[in-house]
Amino acid sequence: MKIKVAFVGAGKMVSAIVKSLLRSRTFEPSDIACCSANDGTSETLSEETGIFRFDSIESMMEAKPDLLALGCKPQQLADLPDSISESTEGTLILSIMAGITLDRLSSVFPNARNLVRSMPNTPGQVGAGATGFLFAREAEEEDRQLIMGILSSLGFAREVGEERDVDRVTAISGSGPAYVFEFACALEEAGKDIGLESDLAKELALHTVIGAAKLMEESELHPEELRNRVTSPNGTTQAALESFAADELREIVRKAAQAACDRSIELSNA
Ligand SMILES: NC(=O)c1ccc[n+]([C@@H]2O[C@H](COP(=O)([O-])OP(=O)(O)OC[C@H]3O[C@@H](n4cnc5c(N)ncnc54)[C@H](OP(=O)(O)O)[C@@H]3O)[C@@H](O)[C@H]2O)c1
Repeated sequence: MKIKVAFVGAGKMVSAIVKSLLRSRTFEPSDIACCSANDGTSETLSEETGIFRFDSIESMMEAKPDLLALGCKPQQLADLPDSISESTEGTLILSIMAGITLDRLSSVFPNARNLVRSMPNTPGQVGAGATGFLFAREAEEEDRQLIMGILSSLGFAREVGEERDVDRVTAISGSGPAYVFEFACALEEAGKDIGLESDLAKELALHTVIGAAKLMEESELHPEELRNRVTSPNGTTQAALESFAADELREIVRKAAQAACDRSIELSNA
């Protein structure tokens, strides 16, 4: 048995990655393995996808995977067995854990071939994610392709220039889906406030966010140009956008992203 990619954890994010890798035929089920803490999640994932499941990280590492992907919660990193520092000698390590720095990873996996810190986001669960990642050291071309193959199965993926960029990625695309969800809630509430029936307000808000996102994706125009094209002089959209400008929507978003970035740095240093 030759395992190519082994996952620590089999929860929401790992399950999304594994299913995307199989859907895109990047790997066969027999190339992939996982293990979890209490077996429940790894059993389910293994049954659903046909990938191998191991009872422990120790036994999974005996299969000598090329890459070990860390998909447990950041606070669960400390629970991994001490033997992992030896058994990951020469292995490429990919972390998707929020707030765990490359320094911290290097101390847990001192013998790894290379280490990657990445920040995916929740739309990755439906193949529409956005991920930023960074290698600890200059990467071999083969390793870069392997990492790109795995992360781009979740959607858009881009290597960043420095570790602080991972905090910036966290503030924009990591936390960003929540900003959009919050905007959808605000649109729904506004719909109800101006007199729409509640179910219709909800459907209109949902389909407007989805429709605008699809149009942005399919159009070659910058969102600012798309905005201009729906804004007739003295029309309804202009009235709304002037209200946004007066309430400084862009400033609100700038401050929110800064707050998220500051918090990400704080958590990474904790
Ligand atoms: N959800 C997202 O969209 C998202 C976005 C960006 C980054 N992330 C990162 O992705 C990681 C996973 O998040 P998630 O939402 O997928 O979490 P989750 O659904 O709670 O899954 C965590 C998994 O880790 C396993 N686990 C815990 N301790 C373990 C141990 N000692 N050995 C082996 N497996 C262990 C759990 O096993 P049991 O079920 O058996 O306990 C479970 O399968 C986190 O670090 C998070 O920061 C997630």
